[in-house]
Amino acid sequence: MSSSFATSQAVDQAVLHLKQGELVAIPTETVYGLGADATNEQAVATIFRLKGRPSFNPLITHFYSKQAAFEHVEANATAEALADAFWPGPLTLVLPKKKTSPLVAAISAGLDTIGVRVPAHPLTQDLLERVGLPIAAPSANPSEALSPTTAAHVRQYFADNPLLAQILDGGPCQSGLESTVMGFDTEKRVVILRPGGLSFETLTSFLGYAPSTPSASDPIKSPGQMLRHYAPRRAQVRLNAHDIKPHEALLAFGPTTLSAPYMRNLSVTGNLEEAASNLFAMLQELDACGAQTIAVMPIPTLGVGVALNDRLRRASVKSNSLV
Ligand code: TXA
Ligand code: MG
Repeated sequence: MSSSFATSQAVDQAVLHLKQGELVAIPTETVYGLGADATNEQAVATIFRLKGRPSFNPLITHFYSKQAAFEHVEANATAEALADAFWPGPLTLVLPKKKTSPLVAAISAGLDTIGVRVPAHPLTQDLLERVGLPIAAPSANPSEALSPTTAAHVRQYFADNPLLAQILDGGPCQSGLESTVMGFDTEKRVVILRPGGLSFETLTSFLGYAPSTPSASDPIKSPGQMLRHYAPRRAQVRLNAHDIKPHEALLAFGPTTLSAPYMRNLSVTGNLEEAASNLFAMLQELDACGAQTIAVMPIPTLGVGVALNDRLRRASVKSNSLV
C-alpha cells in the first residue's frame, strides 16, 4: 500500500486507483470511508470483502455535487431543500434509485433505494471532482468495529492488506460521528434511519416538524443498524457510570471527580461537539490500554448527544442481532 500525504499528487494517485477499480481510504468530515467506484461490480464486492460486511447492509455513495447525486435518485421537494441547506455535510438521503442509474445492485443490498451524500472534506471534494465517478464508501473499519477518525486508525485496521491500494491522509475528521441517514415515508415526510452529525433539533427546526425515528419493529428500513456495532476490540463498555470499579478504564464527560489509572475525558467543559469528535479515538485508546471494561459517564441526549448515545449503546452490546 502506498502512503500518501494531503497533496495534489496523492489525489492524482487516488484518482488512478479508483478508476482502476481499486480501493482508497478517503477522509470525510465525519469519519474515514473505504472508497471504490460505485459503478464497478468487482470494486464494490471488494469493499464488502475487506470489511467483512454482510451483503444485506447497503453502502452510501458519495458525490461531488447535489446535481451529480440526483442523477441517480428520484428526489422530492424536501430532499432538494435538505440538500441545498446541508450539503456538503453530514447528511445522507435515502431515495428511490432511478432505472437509468449505473450504480451496481450490491450498493442497494436488495432495496430499491440508494443512500447519497456530498461530503464536506476539501481533499475528498477535490478527489470526487477529479475522478468524476460516484464513490461508494462505508466507514473504513472492519464490520462492527469502531469507526476511524484518523488515517492512523485506518492503517491499524488494514495496513498491508493488498485489497486497500491507498490511504489518503486528510488529518483527523472534524465532526467524528457518521452522517445522519434519512429516508422518506409515503407522505414524503422525513424518517431518521441513523442519528448522526446533523442533529434532530436542527432538522426539526428546518422541517417545521419532528422527523420520526427508527422503530425496532421496522428493521428493513435501516439494515445497517446492527445492535452491536462501533465496538472496541477487547474491552466491554459499561454505560451511564456514576462510579468506577477496580480495573475499569474511565471515559468521562464534563467536570468530574471520578478518576481511574486509564482515563480520557470526551470534553472537560461538557461540550457535545467536542465529545463527538473525540469519541471513537478515545474508545480506541482506552481499549488499547488493556482494561476489561470501559465505564462511560452519562451523556445528555441533546443535539449530537443523541448520536453519541446511539453509538455508545451499540458499543456496549455483547452479541449481535438486528434492531
Ligand atoms: O458519515 C458517513 O455516513 C460515513 C462516511 C464515510 O460517509 N459512512 C458511513 O457508512 O457511515 P456506513 O456504511 O458505515 O454506514 C452506512 C449506513 C448504514 O447504516 C446503512 O444501512 C445505511 O447507511 N444505508 C445506506 N444505504 C441505505 C439505503 N439504501 N437504505 C437504508 N439505509 C441505508
Ligand atoms: Mg460504519
